Amino acid sequence: MSQDVPPVNELDLSAYWMPFTANRQFKANPRIFVSAEGMHFATADGRKVLDGTAGLWCVNAGHGRREIAQAVERQLLTLDYSPAFQMGHPGAFELAARIARMAPEGLDRVFFGNSGSEAVDTALKVALAYHRARGEGQRTRFIGRERGYHGVGFGGMSVGGIANNRRTFGPMLPAVDHLRHTHGLPGNAFAKGQPPHGAELADDLERLIALHGADTIAAVIVEPLAGSTGVLIPPHGYLERLRAICDRHGLLLIFDEVITGFGRLGAPFAAQHFGVTPDLITVAKGITNGVVPMGAAIVKRGIHDALMQGPEHVIEFFHGYTYSGHPVACAAGLAALEIYARESLFERAASLAPALQEAVHSLRGAPHVADIRNLGLVAAVELEPRSGEPGKRGYDVFLDCYEHGVLVRQTGDILAISPPLTVEESQIHQIVETIANAVRRVV
Ligand SMILES: Cc1ncc(COP(=O)(O)O)c(C=O)c1O
Repeated sequence: MSQDVPPVNELDLSAYWMPFTANRQFKANPRIFVSAEGMHFATADGRKVLDGTAGLWCVNAGHGRREIAQAVERQLLTLDYSPAFQMGHPGAFELAARIARMAPEGLDRVFFGNSGSEAVDTALKVALAYHRARGEGQRTRFIGRERGYHGVGFGGMSVGGIANNRRTFGPMLPAVDHLRHTHGLPGNAFAKGQPPHGAELADDLERLIALHGADTIAAVIVEPLAGSTGVLIPPHGYLERLRAICDRHGLLLIFDEVITGFGRLGAPFAAQHFGVTPDLITVAKGITNGVVPMGAAIVKRGIHDALMQGPEHVIEFFHGYTYSGHPVACAAGLAALEIYARESLFERAASLAPALQEAVHSLRGAPHVADIRNLGLVAAVELEPRSGEPGKRGYDVFLDCYEHGVLVRQTGDILAISPPLTVEESQIHQIVETIANAVRRVV
């Protein structure tokens, strides 16, 4: 730790307003990590905590990767910053080219931002600009989905389907509608992999098209597998049907792969896992192994090319961030992609998926377990809510797991498991056993 930071027990916790955190509870009983290595965090009181969540779904290659740290150091000492507008640096071009090579065929233009939220805003703006450039500027409506999470910008919140966001922050973008979510259908509980029922929910899109008119709609945005709202796995045939409807009506399809990008499902992107190719993909998190903030929109070449018009000295797409393609983020990204390839981590995720499936479904029948689901290297255990206290049982189980050395992610009464792709099978069992004990302890 830097010498400027006092020992943990002398820290003043009051000034830091923590994001998406129960601040008062946290500050009464802080959980502070001071270091991380491989699959583990170390706490201020000297305990090791197994990372069952890859940080926040981002540390796909595990913690403390020397190659990334060294690449970042080299970059800082060579070119610490280069203006993002009207100037370039080698790392940004190289990283974009490598991402383009990994992406589904045809998606080979990459626009960098600094987070998933910015990637989503970028993708929505690309969609609007594209239609306008083609003379269809009246296509300004977006279709999102209930229980979608697309970050915290006004664009992402608007297309997202999280009641808390929408209730607290007002009317948002005016022209947005939502598909129903695909979760909780009879016959889908305890499904292993993609659930069997619900493809027809994609036909909601036809209804919304009939209501609003296809020629008012710019794009549809969904997470191919929704992570943040509790690991909602698309039913068999659902994404294919969405794609077909978008094609029929000239709507762009955006996959938000901020969680699924970079190997979570055993392929570079969920699009490849499901065999469904969207028009744009948003990514962040694993792009740098989570160590430097970065996000990106990966765009079909034809969409990009439609915008490359007008006088050559004029900016074609009026958008960008001071830190778009930051040299340090690019260096981290290049080093992370190198590790993913050298250690075959996406293949590793695919090969560990059956072990995670078997382990997590062994919790069926444990106290309060209402559903279990999994795909690739992600799984969720949904608990019955305590009457009158939604989310409290999930929170108590999350705390119990943490106290017993395992970090899981809690969303309401749902626990998500998404370890680094470097996880060992024995660690998968440790995560599941810790949850099993926690649900027995927590009434
Ligand atoms: C699917 C999806 N989109 C967007 C975001 C927002 O990313 P960020 O927190 O980097 O802005 C997240 C974050 O979890 C996400 O899961």
